[in-house]
Amino acid sequence: MSSPIPQPPGLPLVGNIRDINPSNTWASLKTLAEKYGEIFQIKVLGHTIVFVAGAAIAEEICDEKRFRKYVGGPIVEIRYAVHNSLFTAFDHESSWGIAHRIMAPKLSTSSVGERFDDLNITATDLINKWKGLGSNNTIFPIGDLNRLNLEATTLALFGQRLNCLGGPEHPVIQAMEDATSEAMRRPNRPGFLNWLFYGKKFKSATATMRSWAAGIVQNRKDNPTDRNDLLAALLSAKDPESGKALTDSEVIDEIVTMPIGSSTAPCLMTTAIYYLLKNPHVIAEARKEIDAVVGSDELTHAHTSQLPYVEGVVREAFRLSFAAPGFNIEPIPSESKSPVLLAGGKYQIAHNQPLIIVLAGVNRDPNVFDEPLAFRPERMVGEAYEKLPSAVKKGFGNGKRECIGKHYAWLWLMIMMTRIIKELDFEAADPTYELHQDGWFNVRPTDFSVKVKARGN
Ligand code: HEM
Repeated sequence: MSSPIPQPPGLPLVGNIRDINPSNTWASLKTLAEKYGEIFQIKVLGHTIVFVAGAAIAEEICDEKRFRKYVGGPIVEIRYAVHNSLFTAFDHESSWGIAHRIMAPKLSTSSVGERFDDLNITATDLINKWKGLGSNNTIFPIGDLNRLNLEATTLALFGQRLNCLGGPEHPVIQAMEDATSEAMRRPNRPGFLNWLFYGKKFKSATATMRSWAAGIVQNRKDNPTDRNDLLAALLSAKDPESGKALTDSEVIDEIVTMPIGSSTAPCLMTTAIYYLLKNPHVIAEARKEIDAVVGSDELTHAHTSQLPYVEGVVREAFRLSFAAPGFNIEPIPSESKSPVLLAGGKYQIAHNQPLIIVLAGVNRDPNVFDEPLAFRPERMVGEAYEKLPSAVKKGFGNGKRECIGKHYAWLWLMIMMTRIIKELDFEAADPTYELHQDGWFNVRPTDFSVKVKARGN
């Protein structure tokens, strides 16, 4: 006999609409996860959504023999901007396999390693900017790191400089914000309201992102190069299985998808700065390691794999930031349409029930972590890390639909984490600040500012 899935009490007709703040959906889900634990459901506008917030059930629904990515809600909405791209493709669309086989080799650990200099040079630009601020040195890290991310992604993957660290913010940053916020909100509004009041903003954000991507393609065509980067593969590689290349429109889809994906890394990095400030002993420990391995030399690619404690800092910040706050799963369709059992039959869901993994719950599951809210990089190093259940290592998603940019993101994070700890001192602008997050496809600290200067100055 299965137990009912816990659900907050709702209102007639509208259901649990009041339990979700449409301006900060993930914060609402975090609160519900804290209250209801490993699994809960809500009903909104007649739809039931089940949320999984415990590691054991998350592990179960990451079994690709039984479950797969659910392409619904905001992911379907963002198809307006990127169509059947890697991120948004339905399981049955052959475009996914074609694009994946063309792009994955250029985002492997070794290909990304070849882009170390691009990532490191752009990191130097930002660090020099921060070092040179003088007494006017209060910054919002997320703003500058978003700029850096766009600069680094455009250089490393597409071979072009935007020089967007200074001056007015590059329009693609606001366009990504507008498009993802709109994609998150549309499923919870009646269709005619979306069409009547919100279509224009979505259209304009899409046009901005796609014209930036078209400019990148045009620039490469105008300036041929033998640089063997992701853009080269998008433009001319053929899928080894089908022999097909990407169409012009598909190339634009995938170019637009890259900064939307990579914009999660600045969210993680900013949260890491928050936790470092709250835990100065971690900075001291990381500096010991960095000073022993890198010393007064410039950071090299080889160094980034010799810094286990710094990597533990990145992993622990990843766990507690849940920067990509969740991902969607559904049972693999079955002819029998029988209900699906979870947790050995404790719970039962419909054969076609969408499930959302809430990493704020999974990553802080008290059944896995002793003092789950504490920032302890040492639990993310060596054997301690290896022993953790795989569900608490799902920050990049799952299985065949796992993040294609994870090696790129990791190298960027290792470079940034090492260099900011090695070269900069931070101080909280407001020492009473406690972490609040908001966001759409990713979550970042809200209103978090710091004072920054060169280390030891
Ligand atoms: C810390 C940084 C990042 C995090 C936490 C992250 C997280 C994720 C997650 C959770 C998914 C799975 C989404 C789902 O199941 O619906 C995903 C997919 C994806 N990510 Fe990332 N991501 C990061 C960086 C990047 C970067 C740097 C890129 C591009 C260079 C990227 C591009 C993508 C793409 C294209 C997909 C779809 C993959 C597919 O379905 O085949 N992401 N990411």
